[in-house]
Amino acid sequence: MNEMKIPEHIAIIMDGNGRWAKKLGLNRIFGHKTGVKAVRETVEICGEIGVKYLTLYAFSMENWSRPSDEVEALMSLLIESIVKETAELNRNNVQLRTIGNLSVFPENVTVKLNQAIEFTSKNTGLVLTLALSYGSRWEITEAVKEIATKVTTGEIKPESINENVIEQYLTTYNMPDPELIIRTSGEQRLSNFLLWQGAYSELYFTAVLWPDFRKKDLLEAVDEYRKRERRFGKTGEQIKQEKD
Ligand code: FPP
Repeated sequence: MNEMKIPEHIAIIMDGNGRWAKKLGLNRIFGHKTGVKAVRETVEICGEIGVKYLTLYAFSMENWSRPSDEVEALMSLLIESIVKETAELNRNNVQLRTIGNLSVFPENVTVKLNQAIEFTSKNTGLVLTLALSYGSRWEITEAVKEIATKVTTGEIKPESINENVIEQYLTTYNMPDPELIIRTSGEQRLSNFLLWQGAYSELYFTAVLWPDFRKKDLLEAVDEYRKRERRFGKTGEQIKQEKD
């Protein structure tokens, strides 16, 4: 594959676990469990083709309102997967990070998460970011609050606030914007995911349900991305001239 056009950052809305399980007459939780396999394959293929950042929407703020047994099962699955996969992530030089409001997670989850983050922090390969209790509107609201506080203390002058300043206060301050956002399961929405960062992202929607998502599906999305022309508001002619 031509490495020139491999996105540096891919973000994925992993959707359809519940529907996948329902189709088989199984409990929704079984769908989430099978979804972990798809996470593993996706991490592997992204590492193989040279993606630098992979961000996965694993738990949205809205997911807290699901039935409590499903929320609990998702928490257990998260801890179990992190504990089980950390050594493998480390062997593959993957650095684990999170974005989201972790303060609302049970302590046993955050302790395990922080251990895995610390354990993989020196790795220099793929940066795998799990969006956990994440929501873009929450993130932007928090950034506004922090900036407003600094304005009142005189640390920031209102006239110096620009896009670069705002970006420094987002949870993704140390990452490039995703060039490609993928959503599985046929839904065509961003659902409060990376709204600021995705301003110019190519969006790719596939009917494949997340538990069925395999390496070939990721490669198909990347192929489609490579065919698209990213213009950032310029004309096609201007882009062509810049390339020549
Ligand atoms: C969306 O499907 C999926 C989730 C809310 C959870 C995603 C979690 C995992 C894949 C497992 C744990 C992840 C990691 C990173 C170890 P849905 O339940 O909304 O499906 P539906 O729309 O068909 O009901």
